[in-house]
Amino acid sequence: MPEQITITRPDDWHLHLRDGAALAAVLPHSARQFARAIVMPNLRPPVASVEQALAYRRRIVDALPAGASFEPLMTLYLTDTTPPAEMKRARDAGVLAIKLYPAGATTNSDAGVTDLKRVAGVLEAAEREGIALLVHGEVTDLDVDVFDREAVFIDRHLVGLRRSFPGLKIVLEHVTTREGAQYVAEAGEKTAATITAHHLLYNRNALFQGGIRPHWYCLPILKRELHRLALMKAATSASGRFFLGTDSAPHAASLKENACGCAGCYTAFHALELYAEAFDGAGALDRLEAFASIDGAAFYGLPRNAGTVTLEKRPWTVPESLAFGDGELKPLGGGQTLSWAIAAATVEEEGSRP
Ligand code: DOR
Ligand code: ZN
Repeated sequence: MPEQITITRPDDWHLHLRDGAALAAVLPHSARQFARAIVMPNLRPPVASVEQALAYRRRIVDALPAGASFEPLMTLYLTDTTPPAEMKRARDAGVLAIKLYPAGATTNSDAGVTDLKRVAGVLEAAEREGIALLVHGEVTDLDVDVFDREAVFIDRHLVGLRRSFPGLKIVLEHVTTREGAQYVAEAGEKTAATITAHHLLYNRNALFQGGIRPHWYCLPILKRELHRLALMKAATSASGRFFLGTDSAPHAASLKENACGCAGCYTAFHALELYAEAFDGAGALDRLEAFASIDGAAFYGLPRNAGTVTLEKRPWTVPESLAFGDGELKPLGGGQTLSWAIAAATVEEEGSRP
């Protein structure tokens, strides 16, 4: 009997699902592994109002495969002109969070915030209504080195945001640096961070191993090994404020294998297996359940999922390519062997069926 581990059904607290044919192609992968996911709003045009978020939610639910049990948790794209009154509407509609993209920081972020002063009124309303602020924490100045943009964002913006809105839940999304992990660890109970599988498994050498490898390019970009080690330590710590967010970000292979390739790693297909690989590598598989299934729900004040996922130690090869509308999608590490595989999943607790 292979080695096995059974955990509570996990959630993905940071996911890009896209829309239309792309949505239909990727959604089954997340629904197979996760009970819920926080869905990013960086569509074109952005999901900037509650009305748009509810319409997008409907499209996601309609695209679910028959019998799937998966709940999309919606977010709004914060712009310079988001009305503060939208925060109350968001709360009433069950929209969980707003997403701050500094304008120009990443894919579809041109409608993002140009100056935090302009959104002070919305952040105050979010604080009052219990709407969380999800942050893409990178400055956009071209004169700041791309590897330093997260650390500079924390100093220039996050420290001040935290101070100005002490009651606001803030999540530093896809934290990638030792500085970021340290800041969050020390920032108190209203501040948390998501961590991707790729930032736990790889350092920046992966981008250049044997040649330039566009499928390892994402933003924030992979960092040095010392940062990967700090993230691994944070993910396996007992702080409760570092939890799973894949930042799985599908782009057609032709747009990544390109003279100006898009940022984003596609990991939803094999997310839990990638995290298991990382946690096993750190000798900390016993911490996987808290990170993947417990701490995120607790931070957001949501119930823990019923049901379980069982992983077993059985080598399998990640496919090189997946269908993606008219194009193809290359999952991160296609062709490589992973040592953990999903063996079984239940959506209800054992014994809860009549
Ligand atoms: O690499 C990334 N891809 N980082 C982001 O912040 C956005 C994402 C995307 O939407 O493709
Ligand atoms: Zn993202």
